Amino acid sequence: MDAIISVKNLSKTYASGQHALKNVSLDIRRGEIFALLGPNGAGKTTLISIICGIVNPGSGIVLADGHDIITEYRKTRSIIGLVPQELTTDVFESVGATMSFSRGLFGKPPDDAYIEKVLRDLSLWDRKDTKIITLSGGMKRRVLIAKALAHEPRILFLDEPTAGVDVELRRDMWNMVRGLRESGVTIILTTHYIEEAEQIADRIGIINHGEIILVEDKHTLKRKLGRRQLKLTLRNPISRIPEGFSEFKLELTPDGMTLVFDFDANAGETGIAGLLKRLDERGVDFSDVNSSESSLEEIFVNLVRNGN
Ligand SMILES: Nc1ncnc2c1ncn2[C@@H]1O[C@H](COP(=O)(O)OP(=O)(O)OP(=O)(O)O)[C@@H](O)[C@H]1O
Ligand SMILES: [Mg+2]
Repeated sequence: MDAIISVKNLSKTYASGQHALKNVSLDIRRGEIFALLGPNGAGKTTLISIICGIVNPGSGIVLADGHDIITEYRKTRSIIGLVPQELTTDVFESVGATMSFSRGLFGKPPDDAYIEKVLRDLSLWDRKDTKIITLSGGMKRRVLIAKALAHEPRILFLDEPTAGVDVELRRDMWNMVRGLRESGVTIILTTHYIEEAEQIADRIGIINHGEIILVEDKHTLKRKLGRRQLKLTLRNPISRIPEGFSEFKLELTPDGMTLVFDFDANAGETGIAGLLKRLDERGVDFSDVNSSESSLEEIFVNLVRNGN
Protein backbone atom coordinates (compact mmCIF):
# COMPACT_ATOMS: atom_id res chain seq x y z
CA MET A 1 0.00 0.00 0.00
CA ASP A 2 1.22 3.48 -0.88
CA ALA A 3 0.85 5.26 2.47
CA ILE A 4 1.07 9.04 2.47
CA ILE A 5 0.79 9.07 6.24
CA SER A 6 2.16 6.32 8.39
CA VAL A 7 1.55 6.30 12.13
CA LYS A 8 3.40 3.65 14.14
CA ASN A 9 2.86 2.81 17.79
CA LEU A 10 1.84 6.32 18.71
CA SER A 11 1.00 6.99 22.35
CA LYS A 12 0.21 10.27 24.01
CA THR A 13 -0.29 11.11 27.66
CA TYR A 14 -1.14 14.74 28.46
CA ALA A 15 0.44 16.43 31.48
CA SER A 16 -2.88 15.90 33.25
CA GLY A 17 -2.24 12.14 33.11
CA GLN A 18 -4.90 11.61 30.44
CA HIS A 19 -3.92 8.75 28.10
CA ALA A 20 -5.27 10.29 24.92
CA LEU A 21 -3.68 7.80 22.48
CA LYS A 22 -2.68 4.23 23.19
CA ASN A 23 -0.30 2.59 20.75
CA VAL A 24 -2.05 3.81 17.62
CA SER A 25 -0.86 2.48 14.26
CA LEU A 26 -2.56 3.68 11.11
CA ASP A 27 -1.74 4.14 7.43
CA ILE A 28 -3.52 6.67 5.26
CA ARG A 29 -3.45 5.87 1.55
CA ARG A 30 -2.32 8.41 -0.98
CA GLY A 31 -5.31 10.14 -2.57
CA GLU A 32 -8.04 8.69 -0.38
CA ILE A 33 -10.71 10.33 1.75
CA PHE A 34 -10.37 8.82 5.20
CA ALA A 35 -12.95 9.39 7.92
CA LEU A 36 -11.91 9.03 11.55
CA LEU A 37 -15.02 8.25 13.51
CA GLY A 38 -15.33 8.33 17.27
CA PRO A 39 -17.21 9.82 20.22
CA ASN A 40 -16.19 12.91 22.21
CA GLY A 41 -12.82 12.52 23.87
CA ALA A 42 -11.83 9.51 21.75
CA GLY A 43 -8.54 11.09 20.72
CA LYS A 44 -9.34 12.30 17.19
CA THR A 45 -8.09 15.87 17.63
CA THR A 46 -5.05 14.65 19.53
CA LEU A 47 -4.10 12.28 16.70
CA ILE A 48 -4.58 14.94 14.05
CA SER A 49 -2.76 17.59 16.08
CA ILE A 50 0.26 15.32 16.49
CA ILE A 51 0.43 14.57 12.76
CA CYS A 52 0.15 18.29 12.02
CA GLY A 53 2.91 19.13 14.47
CA ILE A 54 0.78 21.11 16.93
CA VAL A 55 0.92 18.62 19.81
CA ASN A 56 4.05 16.70 20.76
CA PRO A 57 3.79 12.96 20.45
CA GLY A 58 4.63 10.91 23.52
CA SER A 59 6.18 7.90 21.83
CA GLY A 60 5.96 6.44 18.36
CA ILE A 61 6.75 7.51 14.82
CA VAL A 62 4.73 9.51 12.30
CA LEU A 63 5.82 9.86 8.68
CA ALA A 64 4.14 12.22 6.22
CA ASP A 65 5.07 11.40 2.64
CA GLY A 66 8.10 9.56 4.02
CA HIS A 67 9.28 12.47 6.19
CA ASP A 68 9.48 12.32 9.97
CA ILE A 69 7.10 14.89 11.50
CA ILE A 70 9.61 15.72 14.26
CA THR A 71 13.00 15.79 12.55
CA GLU A 72 11.63 17.11 9.23
CA TYR A 73 8.98 19.36 10.69
CA ARG A 74 9.23 22.13 8.11
CA LYS A 75 8.90 19.72 5.22
CA THR A 76 5.89 17.89 6.65
CA ARG A 77 4.12 21.08 7.70
CA SER A 78 4.48 22.46 4.16
CA ILE A 79 2.60 19.54 2.61
CA ILE A 80 -0.15 19.46 5.26
CA GLY A 81 -3.16 21.74 5.66
CA LEU A 82 -5.35 21.72 8.76
CA VAL A 83 -8.88 22.99 9.27
CA PRO A 84 -9.00 22.99 13.07
CA GLN A 85 -12.00 22.08 15.20
CA GLU A 86 -11.86 25.37 17.07
CA LEU A 87 -11.82 28.76 15.39
CA THR A 88 -8.26 30.01 15.71
CA THR A 89 -7.24 32.76 13.39
CA ASP A 90 -6.43 36.43 13.62
CA VAL A 91 -9.96 37.82 13.58
CA PHE A 92 -8.94 41.43 12.92
CA GLU A 93 -7.44 40.53 9.55
CA SER A 94 -9.45 40.54 6.36
CA VAL A 95 -10.35 37.27 4.65
CA GLY A 96 -8.02 37.79 1.69
CA ALA A 97 -5.08 39.01 3.77
CA THR A 98 -5.30 36.02 6.12
CA MET A 99 -5.06 33.65 3.20
CA SER A 100 -2.17 35.52 1.53
CA PHE A 101 -0.31 35.77 4.82
CA SER A 102 -0.72 32.08 5.53
CA ARG A 103 0.58 31.24 2.06
CA GLY A 104 3.60 33.46 2.65
CA LEU A 105 4.34 31.75 5.97
CA PHE A 106 4.97 28.54 4.08
CA GLY A 107 7.32 30.30 1.71
CA LYS A 108 5.00 29.98 -1.29
CA PRO A 109 5.18 32.78 -3.88
CA PRO A 110 2.05 34.95 -4.19
CA ASP A 111 -0.57 33.56 -6.55
CA ASP A 112 -3.62 35.79 -6.79
CA ALA A 113 -5.38 33.51 -9.25
CA TYR A 114 -5.13 30.55 -6.88
CA ILE A 115 -6.36 32.58 -3.92
CA GLU A 116 -9.28 33.89 -5.95
CA LYS A 117 -10.22 30.36 -7.02
CA VAL A 118 -10.27 29.03 -3.46
CA LEU A 119 -12.25 32.01 -2.18
CA ARG A 120 -14.74 31.66 -5.03
CA ASP A 121 -15.12 27.91 -4.40
CA LEU A 122 -15.96 28.71 -0.79
CA SER A 123 -18.32 31.60 -1.73
CA LEU A 124 -15.97 33.97 0.07
CA TRP A 125 -14.79 36.06 -2.87
CA ASP A 126 -17.19 38.94 -2.22
CA ARG A 127 -15.99 38.97 1.41
CA LYS A 128 -12.29 39.07 0.70
CA ASP A 129 -11.89 42.56 2.20
CA THR A 130 -14.17 41.87 5.16
CA LYS A 131 -12.66 41.62 8.64
CA ILE A 132 -13.07 38.06 9.91
CA ILE A 133 -14.45 39.24 13.26
CA THR A 134 -17.57 40.55 11.53
CA LEU A 135 -18.40 37.24 9.84
CA SER A 136 -20.92 34.66 11.04
CA GLY A 137 -19.72 31.36 12.53
CA GLY A 138 -20.29 29.47 9.27
CA MET A 139 -18.43 32.10 7.27
CA LYS A 140 -15.53 31.97 9.74
CA ARG A 141 -15.39 28.24 9.16
CA ARG A 142 -15.15 28.84 5.41
CA VAL A 143 -12.23 31.17 6.12
CA LEU A 144 -10.47 28.44 8.10
CA ILE A 145 -10.81 26.12 5.12
CA ALA A 146 -9.45 28.79 2.75
CA LYS A 147 -6.56 29.42 5.12
CA ALA A 148 -5.74 25.71 5.34
CA LEU A 149 -5.61 25.55 1.54
CA ALA A 150 -3.53 28.73 1.14
CA HIS A 151 -0.22 26.89 0.64
CA GLU A 152 -1.67 24.20 -1.66
CA PRO A 153 -1.18 21.26 0.73
CA ARG A 154 -1.08 17.68 -0.57
CA ILE A 155 -2.75 16.41 2.59
CA LEU A 156 -5.75 18.13 4.14
CA PHE A 157 -7.08 17.48 7.63
CA LEU A 158 -10.60 18.60 8.52
CA ASP A 159 -11.38 18.27 12.22
CA GLU A 160 -15.18 18.05 12.70
CA PRO A 161 -15.82 20.08 9.56
CA THR A 162 -19.61 19.85 9.75
CA ALA A 163 -20.15 20.62 13.43
CA GLY A 164 -22.56 23.55 13.57
CA VAL A 165 -22.58 23.96 9.80
CA ASP A 166 -25.66 24.56 7.65
CA VAL A 167 -26.77 22.47 4.67
CA GLU A 168 -25.31 24.88 2.12
CA LEU A 169 -21.84 24.98 3.64
CA ARG A 170 -21.87 21.22 4.09
CA ARG A 171 -22.67 20.82 0.38
CA ASP A 172 -19.98 23.33 -0.66
CA MET A 173 -17.53 21.58 1.60
CA TRP A 174 -18.18 18.11 0.22
CA ASN A 175 -17.97 19.42 -3.34
CA MET A 176 -14.67 21.03 -2.51
CA VAL A 177 -13.37 17.92 -0.78
CA ARG A 178 -14.27 15.77 -3.80
CA GLY A 179 -12.64 18.31 -6.14
CA LEU A 180 -9.48 18.29 -4.05
CA ARG A 181 -9.39 14.52 -4.06
CA GLU A 182 -9.67 14.55 -7.86
CA SER A 183 -6.64 16.81 -7.98
CA GLY A 184 -4.71 14.26 -5.91
CA VAL A 185 -5.08 15.70 -2.41
CA THR A 186 -5.42 13.18 0.42
CA ILE A 187 -8.17 14.09 2.87
CA ILE A 188 -8.61 13.01 6.46
CA LEU A 189 -11.68 14.19 8.33
CA THR A 190 -13.11 13.48 11.74
CA THR A 191 -16.77 13.08 12.51
CA HIS A 192 -19.22 11.71 15.06
CA TYR A 193 -21.61 10.52 12.38
CA ILE A 194 -21.43 7.17 10.65
CA GLU A 195 -23.83 8.43 7.96
CA GLU A 196 -21.51 11.28 7.13
CA ALA A 197 -18.47 9.03 7.03
CA GLU A 198 -20.36 6.65 4.75
CA GLN A 199 -21.33 9.45 2.39
CA ILE A 200 -17.96 10.98 1.79
CA ALA A 201 -15.18 8.59 2.79
CA ASP A 202 -13.38 5.80 0.94
CA ARG A 203 -12.25 4.21 4.20
CA ILE A 204 -13.41 4.57 7.77
CA GLY A 205 -11.42 4.21 10.98
CA ILE A 206 -13.09 4.00 14.37
CA ILE A 207 -11.30 5.31 17.42
CA ASN A 208 -12.42 5.06 21.02
CA HIS A 209 -10.62 5.71 24.30
CA GLY A 210 -7.42 6.44 22.39
CA GLU A 211 -7.41 3.15 20.51
CA ILE A 212 -8.10 2.43 16.86
CA ILE A 213 -10.79 -0.24 16.95
CA LEU A 214 -11.04 -0.91 13.26
CA VAL A 215 -10.12 0.42 9.84
CA GLU A 216 -12.22 -0.73 6.95
CA ASP A 217 -13.14 0.04 3.37
CA LYS A 218 -16.51 1.79 3.40
CA HIS A 219 -18.27 -0.79 1.26
CA THR A 220 -16.96 -3.69 3.32
CA LEU A 221 -18.04 -1.92 6.48
CA LYS A 222 -21.51 -1.29 5.12
CA ARG A 223 -21.86 -4.95 4.26
CA LYS A 224 -20.72 -6.02 7.71
CA LEU A 225 -23.01 -3.52 9.38
CA GLY A 226 -25.98 -4.76 7.45
CA ARG A 227 -25.53 -8.38 8.45
CA ARG A 228 -28.05 -9.52 11.03
CA GLN A 229 -29.24 -12.79 12.48
CA LEU A 230 -32.71 -13.97 13.23
CA LYS A 231 -32.95 -16.73 15.85
CA LEU A 232 -35.97 -18.99 15.94
CA THR A 233 -36.41 -21.11 19.04
CA LEU A 234 -38.20 -24.29 18.00
CA ARG A 235 -41.04 -25.84 19.92
CA ASN A 236 -39.63 -29.31 19.30
CA PRO A 237 -35.97 -30.13 18.62
CA ILE A 238 -35.04 -31.34 15.11
CA SER A 239 -32.01 -33.34 14.03
CA ARG A 240 -31.38 -31.47 10.77
CA ILE A 241 -32.73 -28.63 8.67
CA PRO A 242 -35.76 -29.99 6.81
CA GLU A 243 -36.01 -30.23 3.01
CA GLY A 244 -37.24 -27.17 1.15
CA PHE A 245 -35.14 -24.51 2.84
CA SER A 246 -32.12 -24.53 0.54
CA GLU A 247 -32.56 -20.92 -0.62
CA PHE A 248 -32.34 -19.64 2.97
CA LYS A 249 -28.99 -19.18 4.74
CA LEU A 250 -29.95 -21.29 7.73
CA GLU A 251 -28.01 -23.02 10.47
CA LEU A 252 -29.20 -25.34 13.20
CA THR A 253 -27.62 -25.14 16.65
CA PRO A 254 -26.13 -28.46 17.88
CA ASP A 255 -28.94 -28.97 20.41
CA GLY A 256 -31.44 -28.88 17.52
CA MET A 257 -33.49 -26.22 19.29
CA THR A 258 -32.63 -23.05 17.37
CA LEU A 259 -32.60 -22.10 13.71
CA VAL A 260 -30.28 -19.20 12.90
CA PHE A 261 -31.05 -17.17 9.77
CA ASP A 262 -28.44 -14.79 8.32
CA PHE A 263 -29.86 -11.86 6.43
CA ASP A 264 -28.83 -8.51 5.06
CA ALA A 265 -30.68 -5.70 6.80
CA ASN A 266 -29.72 -3.29 4.01
CA ALA A 267 -31.34 -5.41 1.31
CA GLY A 268 -34.78 -4.40 0.10
CA GLU A 269 -35.96 -7.96 0.63
CA THR A 270 -34.55 -9.62 3.75
CA GLY A 271 -36.20 -12.97 3.10
CA ILE A 272 -37.71 -13.12 6.58
CA ALA A 273 -41.31 -13.10 5.37
CA GLY A 274 -40.58 -15.96 2.95
CA LEU A 275 -38.82 -17.97 5.64
CA LEU A 276 -41.66 -17.63 8.14
CA LYS A 277 -44.16 -18.65 5.48
CA ARG A 278 -42.08 -21.70 4.53
CA LEU A 279 -41.72 -22.76 8.17
CA ASP A 280 -45.46 -22.56 8.51
CA GLU A 281 -46.04 -24.58 5.34
CA ARG A 282 -43.59 -27.29 6.49
CA GLY A 283 -45.11 -27.42 9.95
CA VAL A 284 -41.96 -26.29 11.77
CA ASP A 285 -43.29 -24.64 14.90
CA PHE A 286 -41.33 -22.11 16.84
CA SER A 287 -41.98 -20.57 20.23
CA ASP A 288 -39.79 -17.49 20.10
CA VAL A 289 -38.03 -15.19 17.62
CA ASN A 290 -35.30 -12.72 18.25
CA SER A 291 -32.96 -10.71 16.12
CA SER A 292 -29.34 -9.97 16.94
CA GLU A 293 -27.22 -7.23 15.42
CA SER A 294 -23.71 -7.83 14.19
CA SER A 295 -21.02 -7.07 16.72
CA LEU A 296 -19.84 -4.23 14.54
CA GLU A 297 -23.19 -2.55 14.68
CA GLU A 298 -23.12 -2.98 18.45
CA ILE A 299 -19.76 -1.26 18.50
CA PHE A 300 -21.17 1.58 16.47
CA VAL A 301 -24.30 1.99 18.46
CA ASN A 302 -22.51 1.85 21.78
CA LEU A 303 -19.52 3.94 20.92
CA VAL A 304 -20.62 6.36 18.33
CA ARG A 305 -24.34 6.95 18.57
CA ASN A 306 -24.56 6.89 22.36
CA GLY A 307 -21.29 8.67 22.83
CA ASN A 308 -20.05 6.25 25.50
N1 LIG B 1 -4.45 19.87 26.09
C1 LIG B 1 -4.95 18.84 26.78
N2 LIG B 1 -4.58 18.60 28.04
C2 LIG B 1 -5.06 17.55 28.73
N3 LIG B 1 -5.93 16.66 28.24
C3 LIG B 1 -6.35 16.83 26.99
C4 LIG B 1 -5.89 17.93 26.18
N4 LIG B 1 -6.48 17.84 24.98
C5 LIG B 1 -7.25 16.75 25.02
N5 LIG B 1 -7.19 16.14 26.23
C6 LIG B 1 -7.88 14.91 26.64
O1 LIG B 1 -7.48 13.86 25.76
C7 LIG B 1 -8.59 13.05 25.40
C8 LIG B 1 -8.76 13.06 23.91
O2 LIG B 1 -9.19 14.36 23.50
P1 LIG B 1 -9.39 14.77 21.99
O3 LIG B 1 -9.63 16.23 21.95
O4 LIG B 1 -8.24 14.23 21.20
O5 LIG B 1 -10.70 13.96 21.62
P2 LIG B 1 -11.65 14.06 20.33
O6 LIG B 1 -11.85 12.69 19.84
O7 LIG B 1 -11.13 15.07 19.40
O8 LIG B 1 -13.01 14.58 20.98
P3 LIG B 1 -14.16 15.54 20.36
O9 LIG B 1 -15.02 14.64 19.51
O10 LIG B 1 -14.89 16.01 21.56
O11 LIG B 1 -13.51 16.62 19.60
C9 LIG B 1 -9.77 13.61 26.18
O12 LIG B 1 -9.92 12.86 27.35
C10 LIG B 1 -9.38 15.03 26.49
O13 LIG B 1 -9.98 15.47 27.66
MG1 LIG C 1 -11.84 16.80 18.62
